[in-house]
Amino acid sequence: MSIVEDYVRRTPTSGKLHERGRKVFPGGYTRSTILVDYPYPTYIQRALGCRVWDVDGNEYIDYINNYGPLLLGHNNPAVVEAVKQQLETIWSGAVTETEVKLAEKVKELYPCAERMLFCPTGSEACMKAVRTYRAISGKEKIAMFKGAYHGSSDSLSFQEGTPTDFLSKVVLLPYDEIEGVERLIELYKDELAAVLLEPTMGRMGHKPAHPDFYKALREITRKKGIPLVIDEIVDGFRLAPGGAQQRFGIQADMTMLGKVLGGGFPLAAFASSEEVMSIWGIQESTSLDIVGPRIANTGTFNDTKISIAAGLATIEQLTPDLYKHLEKIGDEMRGGMKKIFSGLRIKAQVTGISSMFSIFFTGKPIVNSDSMVHVNKLVYRCFAMSLLNKGVIIGKGGNPSFCSAAMTEEDIKQTLKAAEETLSEMLPLIKEIAPTLID
Ligand SMILES: Cc1ncc(COP(=O)(O)O)c(C=O)c1O
Repeated sequence: MSIVEDYVRRTPTSGKLHERGRKVFPGGYTRSTILVDYPYPTYIQRALGCRVWDVDGNEYIDYINNYGPLLLGHNNPAVVEAVKQQLETIWSGAVTETEVKLAEKVKELYPCAERMLFCPTGSEACMKAVRTYRAISGKEKIAMFKGAYHGSSDSLSFQEGTPTDFLSKVVLLPYDEIEGVERLIELYKDELAAVLLEPTMGRMGHKPAHPDFYKALREITRKKGIPLVIDEIVDGFRLAPGGAQQRFGIQADMTMLGKVLGGGFPLAAFASSEEVMSIWGIQESTSLDIVGPRIANTGTFNDTKISIAAGLATIEQLTPDLYKHLEKIGDEMRGGMKKIFSGLRIKAQVTGISSMFSIFFTGKPIVNSDSMVHVNKLVYRCFAMSLLNKGVIIGKGGNPSFCSAAMTEEDIKQTLKAAEETLSEMLPLIKEIAPTLID
């Protein structure tokens, strides 16, 4: 039986739901990162801890965790309780103490975060971060790293349909190549409003740069007087309570947080010094005749109370032991996968840091976004789907996978066993469709 036949046999109800989905969504689903399961996505009915159950009753260990927010796994009891309590009081449309409490926690953990603003998505946080520095400096160009992802706004995503003008405002820097970065920053220094950094580059499997790279980038931007904006939407609270900045010892001028910040619900933030963020605030006044902000942080769902309660309940659980556990299971997962690949003589790269891992079917190391041209995506798709048939969900279409604190070492062992079985069964297929991947 083929991988697809096996999937279809196990998931008839998902197949039927997809028939309905296709009639209301282009392609059948509303989120493209999920829409890579062939011939249809798995419809999930229930989740708890590190496991999810689909509409046909199949059980899976979930390594997607909504691509990052669920650091504690699904339906964490303290988060559920906080959300329930919030539901019984107020959902949105008022100022409450909980948002101040959450902001105070962020301020404790992220040195640049003297003042911050919330918004529902990381895309908005990144867009508003860029807008801040464009407004302050009067300069329009920004620099970002080639292959980085900063969300889906027109300012930063450049998909078809984005005006070409937006593209002309961006300088692309080479990741982890400090000489190239220095040259380009020198060339554009008078036009740059900010330099954006995604510290571990999700599309490259969250492979950190050389530690000296971060230090040098910080020095260059400081010397040239260009703000360094660090996108911690994924790395924040995951690599450490203080994110990549704590882990790699770099300090941003502005940072964006998201994902874990909302404990599984939509919430993001952009944060910087009191002076920089003052552009978003009403001016202090002793009378009712107040002067409005230069830029208004409009957004109906900027401070959704459910997200804030869930985020607070999540961050309150981030203990040193939890990080030790996440590091351990992340290491076991990456180490175990590498061992399986070398035992079966399959050429693959296993990347990642802390609780994140990615698998790329290529014999060449992943160094920057250009490395992706060597990756065999078809083999990955077959692997991910076969693993799904064995009860393990990993990142779709080559997207990263995320361990959660709800996972035990036993779950990792079970996953590695399933991966080894899957890859052994796939050997003839790999030999047929990608013979160069076999050593
Ligand atoms: C580094 C990074 N920045 C920004 C975003 C955008 O966040 P959101 O999906 O909440 O809009 C993402 C999303 O995956 C991300 O990984």
